[in-house]
Amino acid sequence: MIPSVMAKLKIGVLGSGKGSNFRAILSEIEAGRLDAEPVIVMADVEGAGILDLARGAGIPAHVIREPRFCTKLSPEIETDVVRRLRDAGVELVVLAGYMRMVKQPLLEAFPRRVINIHPSLLPAFPGLEAWSQALAAGVEKSGCTVHFVDAGMDTGEIIAQAEVPVLPGDTPALLHARIQIEEHRIYPAVVARFAAGDLP
Ligand code: GAR
Repeated sequence: MIPSVMAKLKIGVLGSGKGSNFRAILSEIEAGRLDAEPVIVMADVEGAGILDLARGAGIPAHVIREPRFCTKLSPEIETDVVRRLRDAGVELVVLAGYMRMVKQPLLEAFPRRVINIHPSLLPAFPGLEAWSQALAAGVEKSGCTVHFVDAGMDTGEIIAQAEVPVLPGDTPALLHARIQIEEHRIYPAVVARFAAGDLP
């Protein structure tokens, strides 16, 4: 009998930074625990580590050049991103440290198929440097959230969360590092749920 071969979920990854969440997803794929295939990686920052990670893994990697805005892409440029994602056959768009707002061209092209990881227990502390916001607020616990992306800032429906304690003597860097350990666990696990067809 010929074994049935399930198609792998094709993911497109957008980032701005070092790409440790993307690396965590890649590790799970390489270990055979995640049935997904990154088919394209794009970053809006030239020289971002996530691009080197992709190239090292033989995945097409592109720089998004946006000269006009810092916090979003212009509609033409976001439309071009959509074209590249579609051309690559992407089924799920994974924001992994992507630091711009996502707008209609991308959201309309991939309804309920754009996800993000954020370093707080949303709805607390949306926006930049959520770990610093948590420290400044004096909370006893923080964590991370994976959510569907909508037009708001970190407001989409929550898919998964993990808590971490805020410890005496924490600095922003220490707390962020503790949160990232949980990010690297829950983000691949959520992608696996999409790959398994668990998230309509
Ligand atoms: C992560 O902590 C992620 O949660 C955060 O950026 C970091 C990227 O790290 N994202 C946001 O703050 C989005 N609002 P990485 O490049 O090592 O994956």
